[in-house]
Amino acid sequence: MEVNDILHEDISKLNDLFIPDCFEGSVADLRAMQAALAKIVDALGEQSAAAQGLNRIITTADKLRASPTHTLYLLKDATAKNGKGEVIGLLKVGYKHLFLFDERDHVHEVEPLCVLDFYIVRDRQRSGYGRVLFDYMLHDMEMHAHQLAIDGPSAKMEQFLAKNYEVERLLRQNNNFAVAPQFFERFADISTPAVAAAVGRFAAPKPHSAIANVIHGGASYYAENNGDEERLPEPLPWAPPAPELDDGPNWDDDDYQPEVACKPPSPERPSTLPVEPEAGAPPAAPAAFADVPAAGLPSGASTPASGSGAAGAARRDSQLTDKGYFDVKFYHNRLW
Ligand code: ACO
Repeated sequence: MEVNDILHEDISKLNDLFIPDCFEGSVADLRAMQAALAKIVDALGEQSAAAQGLNRIITTADKLRASPTHTLYLLKDATAKNGKGEVIGLLKVGYKHLFLFDERDHVHEVEPLCVLDFYIVRDRQRSGYGRVLFDYMLHDMEMHAHQLAIDGPSAKMEQFLAKNYEVERLLRQNNNFAVAPQFFERFADISTPAVAAAVGRFAAPKPHSAIANVIHGGASYYAENNGDEERLPEPLPWAPPAPELDDGPNWDDDDYQPEVACKPPSPERPSTLPVEPEAGAPPAAPAAFADVPAAGLPSGASTPASGSGAAGAARRDSQLTDKGYFDVKFYHNRLW
C-alpha cells in the first residue's frame, strides 16, 4: 500500500484512533491501512530519535494509540517516488501536566500543549517543510509558538523557533521541557506577588468593617488591603421591618413607600478639621481634648457643638452625639 493510498492530504492528522481523516473502506481495508501506516510512523519515529541522539523512540504507532491526548501530524510529498508519495516529516504534540518556573522563579502548575517530537527527513531539512508543518499545527490547535512547551529542544529546534516565530530564547526547566519567556505572560496577574505574603490568620480575608470605613475611608481602605476594588464584598442585605399582620401596610402594593429607610445612613468619614481659637480665648487645649465638655456643665449651657464659635460651626453633624456634644469616638489616634 502506497503513501498516497493511505494519506490523501499533504498534512494528515492522527490521534489514538489511528485513522486518517479521509479514510474510507471496509474493516479489512482499515486493518491493512493501519498496518502500513504503523510501519511508516515507526520508521520515521526511529529516524527522529536517531537525529536527536535519543536512546529511546518518542513516536511509534503503539504509543500514539495509547495516548488519547496526543496528536500526530504527518507531512507528505505527494509527488515523491514517482507519484506514489512519501512521508517527509512528523510533528507530535500533546498536553502534559507540568510545573514550570518563570524568570522570577515563581512556579506555575500548568497543562500546556507540548511539542513532543518534530522531525523532517534529513535531505529535506532547511527547505521550509518544518515551517509548513509547524504552522499547520499552530493553526489547527489555535496556538502561538510562545504558548507551547518544548520537550527537550535540540539546537536545531531552538534556531528554528528563533528564525520562524521570534522565540529568541527558551527557559530550560529541570523536567527537560523548555518554554519561551512570553509563555508566562498570561499568568502575570495571578502569579505570586513579589512582596512577602501574609501568613496564617493574617492571610485570612478580612470581613467588611464599618469601623474601618469610618476611620480609613470605606471602599478605598478595603481595596488597599484586600486587592481589587471590584472584588469588594456585597453589602449585607438590609431588610425593612416585617409588616404587622393585622393592619400593616400592603407590601405587595406597587405604590407603597415604606416609612423606614431601606438602608441605614452610613457615617461620613470625618476629615481633619482645623480648630480656630476664638479671639481673646486662652491657649487652646491639646487637640484631642479641645472640644470635650467640662464635667458638671449645667444643663442648657452652651456646648462646644451648640456654641456659636467658629470651631463649632465647622463641625459636621455626623460628629455630634444626640445631646449635641462632639462624639469622642472621633478623637483617637491610629493604633496600627
Ligand atoms: N542547523 C541549524 N539550524 C537549523 C538546521 C540545522 N541543521 N536545520 C534547521 N534549522 C533551523 C534554522 O533556523 C533554519 O533556518 P536557516 O536555514 O535560515 O538557518 C530553519 O530551522 C529552517 O526552517 P525549516 O526549513 O522550516 O525547518 P526544517 O524543515 O529544517 O525543520 C527541524 C526543522 C524539524 C528542526 C529539522 O531541522 C529537523 O528535523 N532536525 C533534526 C531533528 C530535530 O532536531 N528535531 C527537533 C527536536 S525538539 C523536539 O522534537 C521537541
